[in-house]
Amino acid sequence: MTDPRPIGVFDSGVGGLTVVRAIMDELPNEAVLYFGDTARCPYGPRSLEEIRTFAVQIAHHLSGQDVKAIVVACNAASSAGLEDVTASVPVPVVGVIEPAVRAAVRATRNGRIGLIGTVATVSSGAYQRTLDRLDPQRSARLVSRACPLFVESVERGDTTSPGLMRAAAEYLAPLSEADVDTLILGCTHYPLLRGAIHHVMGPGVLLISSAEEAADDLYDVLASGDLLREEPGPPVHRFESSGDPERFAELGRRFLGPEFPGARHVALDMAGHP
Ligand code: DGL
Repeated sequence: MTDPRPIGVFDSGVGGLTVVRAIMDELPNEAVLYFGDTARCPYGPRSLEEIRTFAVQIAHHLSGQDVKAIVVACNAASSAGLEDVTASVPVPVVGVIEPAVRAAVRATRNGRIGLIGTVATVSSGAYQRTLDRLDPQRSARLVSRACPLFVESVERGDTTSPGLMRAAAEYLAPLSEADVDTLILGCTHYPLLRGAIHHVMGPGVLLISSAEEAADDLYDVLASGDLLREEPGPPVHRFESSGDPERFAELGRRFLGPEFPGARHVALDMAGHP
């Protein structure tokens, strides 16, 4: 049995490409259909209700193109509306929060886990709720910090400037003071700032990116649902953005590499109506 349909993946912008990278590494035979909602990026400062509406709208858009599974490659959207997305489409849905928390609980030695994310993700409390469920004995404690400037820096292609390094030092200082030994990069844009974050936190802190963990979950879903693509030829990937496709393609090539074939513009209703 082979299922040639693509895997739908979405994010507010280029951040979800870190998840696509992990999917391509772990499931190189699978085709990806990616949607970057760059016209409405960033999601972080928006209300959870608005983000939920956008997430359900994009999931419908992907499901209308016959995807076999959807990966919500955005922590803000996973925090605000993973259940709503799951309930609104007829295919399996994988989020990024639970895989990251599972990996952090496994990795921490001193029980102090840091979380950095957007304002929406941190204020939603979704990580704390997931930790409470996965670690019912409360052996680990979560210390959270929102990093509002990070997403805009990545979307500008800035991963090294002095301004970015200053922001990183300021955002991360409370986490170093709290002596976290494990830090969840709770936004799919942040693995693109891994160097800067590692530079500030130092080598003693393990950085957890949900990208690889989410790809593991996707593998399980496809394998157990008999949904793997087993065609002989290489998969054809497609990328869509709600904003400028040229700009998206430029960043896509920089962050994903030569697999990025270019992007097509898709206009969705900006208010999130289907
Ligand atoms: N990459 C996103 C996340 O994982 C979105 C951030 C944003 O648009 O603010 O949360």
